[in-house]
Order: sequence, then C-alpha cells, then structure tokens
Amino acid sequence: MSNVQEYIDRNIKNFENELFELLRIPSVSTDSKRKGDVKKAAEFLINQLKKIGLDKVTLHETVGHPIITAEKTPYSDRPTVLIYGHYDVQPSDPDDLWDTPPFEPTVKKGRVYARGASDDKGQSFIHVKAIESYLKSGTELPVNVKFILEGEEEIGSPNLIPFIKENKELLKCDMVLISDTAMFGEDQPSITYGLRGLTYMEIHVKGPNRDLHSGIYGGTVENPANVLCDMIAKMKDNNGVIQVEGFYDDVEPLTSEMREAYEVLPFDEVEYKKNLNLKAIHGEKGYGTHERSSARPTLDVNGLWSGYQGEGAKTVLPAKAGAKVSMRLVPNQDPNKIAELFKKYVHSIAPDTVEVNVVSHHGGYPVVIDLDFYGLKAAAKAFEDIYQKEVLFTREGGSIPIVSDFKKVLGVNSILMGFGLTKDALHSPNESFSLKDFHRGIKTSARFFEVLTDFVEE
Ligand code: BES
Ligand code: MN
Ligand code: MN
Repeated sequence: MSNVQEYIDRNIKNFENELFELLRIPSVSTDSKRKGDVKKAAEFLINQLKKIGLDKVTLHETVGHPIITAEKTPYSDRPTVLIYGHYDVQPSDPDDLWDTPPFEPTVKKGRVYARGASDDKGQSFIHVKAIESYLKSGTELPVNVKFILEGEEEIGSPNLIPFIKENKELLKCDMVLISDTAMFGEDQPSITYGLRGLTYMEIHVKGPNRDLHSGIYGGTVENPANVLCDMIAKMKDNNGVIQVEGFYDDVEPLTSEMREAYEVLPFDEVEYKKNLNLKAIHGEKGYGTHERSSARPTLDVNGLWSGYQGEGAKTVLPAKAGAKVSMRLVPNQDPNKIAELFKKYVHSIAPDTVEVNVVSHHGGYPVVIDLDFYGLKAAAKAFEDIYQKEVLFTREGGSIPIVSDFKKVLGVNSILMGFGLTKDALHSPNESFSLKDFHRGIKTSARFFEVLTDFVEE
C-alpha cells in the first residue's frame, strides 16, 4: 500500500472528528438568521485548506455567502483538477422528526447522523482529506489541484455563476471533480453522467379583500383555493403528461440505446415501495422508474397554502391561496424558457374572477456528460481499485446548477463521483452518511489523482 493510503488508514479517526466539527455548524444558506454560521463553516474550511498546505487559500466575499478557492499547481505539463463542493446545507425542519439533534453529529451503526452529513459536507470533505494525505505524507501530488467551495448551492448558486465568469484564469482546469451525488446501491460504485435541470415557480391567487364567511358568501364569490386546485389539476393529464404548452418541445427523446442501458440497471420494485411505504409505483405512462427519475421531465407541487389550517373546523372562504411548483428538466430544455411557458400557461387557464401572479425562483440547466471523456475512465478505475467492483454509469434526477456552467464557461466536463446512498435521506429528517464510504471515498479520491495521468489523451 502506498504512503498515501496508509496515511488515510492511520488518520481516519481524526478525519471523522474534523468532519463532525464541520457538521456542528448550522450553515443553512436559505435562512438569513444563519448567515454568521454559513461564514463560520467557510472559515472552518479556510483553516483546513491552509493547514494541509494549499496555496492561495482565499475567502471571496459575495453579496450572499462566501466562495472559497485554493490550489496546489506545481506542474505546467500535468492536468489540473478543480474540486467543487458546497458547505451550505438545507434547513433541518421539521426538527421534531429527527431522532437526534440535526447539528449534533451522532454515530449509530457506522453512520453519522446530521444535516449535511452526506449533502454535501461529508462528501466534499473527502477530497480535502485526500489532498491532505498527499501533502502531509510527503508523497508527491500526482497532478495539479484547485478547490472551489461555495455556500449557496442549496439556493441555486446565484453568486457562483457570475464568479466563475469573472475568474476564468483562476479556475482554469482540465476537469471538475464533484462528490455530491449518490451511488446506485450499497457497495455499488457509480459515476453519474447526467443530472436534471430545474425551474422553480410560485403561484399566488388573490380573491376578495378579506377572508369571508363561507355561508354568507359561499356560492357568490370565487374561492382562490378552489381556483388554485383547479389550475394544478390542469397541469398534468391522467397519464402523467405535463400540459404546459410547449413544455416538451426541446426534450431530447430517449434513444433505443439509452433505453437499453436503463433496462440493464437493477431495480427492485418491492424494495422501492417498502422503503417509502408506498402503495404503488407511479409515473408517466410508458416509462420505467429509472427513466422517470432521471431522463424524463417532471412537474410537482412543492408547497401549498390557503385557508384555515388549525384545529377543528372554521367556516371560511379564504382571500388568498398559493403554491410552489418545481419542474425537473432534461436535455435540451432551458429553465428560463420553461419558466415563461409555465407563466403563460397558468395565465391562460386562470379565470378572470381572481388575480393570479406567477413568479420564478432559482433554476438550473440539465447536463449529460460524454461517456468517452477520459476523466470518467480514470474515476472508474479508481473506484474499482478501492471498491473491488465494476462501476455503473447512471443518470440522476437531482440538480447541481453549476455543472452546466462549468461546461459553458470553463469548457470542461465534470466527474460526478458520488459516495452517497438514497438512504442517506438528503433534505429529509435524519440525514446520514456511511463512515465506511467516507473512508473508502477518501481512498478512491486519492487513487483517482494517482491514476489520472495514465488516462490523459494527447
Ligand atoms: N446534492 C444535491 C443534488 C443531487 C442529489 C444530485 C442526489 C443527484 C443525486 C444538491 O445539493 C441539491 O439538493 N440540489 C438541488 C438544486 C438546487 C437548485 C436547490 C436539488 O436538486 O433540488
Ligand atoms: Mn448537494
Ligand atoms: Mn442538496
């Protein structure tokens, strides 16, 4: 075993404890009350990157949360890998559904439970520790590395997109390495080569100037809650086909090769239903579950409010109603165009008895990475050496908005080397991350840098 791999084994307990320290910081990017904590997480990482011996470790303030860059780039003739990760996390609510407090990392059965354990503190910290293992074991770093860590991924990376446009030279690289996705299953190393995009909208329906007695006015005044539900019902037909006009115009259809690739992926319907306590599988007619969850677009209500929510019954005709609706996008859909089509559609089905407003939140472009890219082959080799199992290439349904900008602005591919599992419960109560995969992840990352030069194409 190399010095690096030995260093990792010897220091794994320290690495875990350092990760737990990071997990104790409630860096919730969407919550303005947590701004100081997001900064604290950034400072923790700045100290880490300095301590392990990286150069040019810099905290860049933005109008939102800080961006961190660092590098070790001694070679003019070797590839440069830019490591991306995010140190912000989703809110922990509903807090009462957590078995242990979200920001007190707790180890149970080889897994650490905390918000951000998998998404993305645990996974991005893997690469910090892999680079440390080179620099601190006195082993020559095989390639150039750069880091870019942000605190706004969970809110759509609004400041990172302009940052990479303005800092092309600083971020110049041959590829981006990201661990912020999931493995196909336990002990099943996987490389994700596609992510969906996102358009996130909010609808407001306004009726009378105040909540009304539903007996006195019911039947004569349009009810905004009824209108909203009616409009939502018109968004999909009974086969799960989205009715927004023009929605599918740019959708890249699945080729027979793609469909065959999906068919060979294992899928256990009974297990899938059991895990989520589902009565039945659901989705767009004519597609399998893996296709539905990664290669087909969706439309889902993410939040809904109106009227009386308290105990018992209150006879009221609400003055207002609202909904948050997100759409997952696939190549070649454009999130801005979809937002416009959605707005147009909602207005086209809105009755003139109420006032309807549609606003858009953050979004992101879908991506598919070319399977011939040599970086993916190096990543597969590293995975196989550590996990001793053949890698699966998969597409996933989640979104990482910056990945498409890495391609468009910096002209480089991303390698999505995920170490998470679907059971990590990202964004849900009791998020967790396997410490075994944290350990194997660091080893895989270290191995990746070692084998990368063998795959470089002239
Ligand atoms: N790490 C996730 C994305 C992800 C999860 C990709 C699992 C593949 C598998 C990321 O932090 C995330 O949650 N992204 C958001 C997008 C954002 C604009 C809020 C998402 O997908 O909802
Ligand atoms: Mn993430
Ligand atoms: Mn996330």
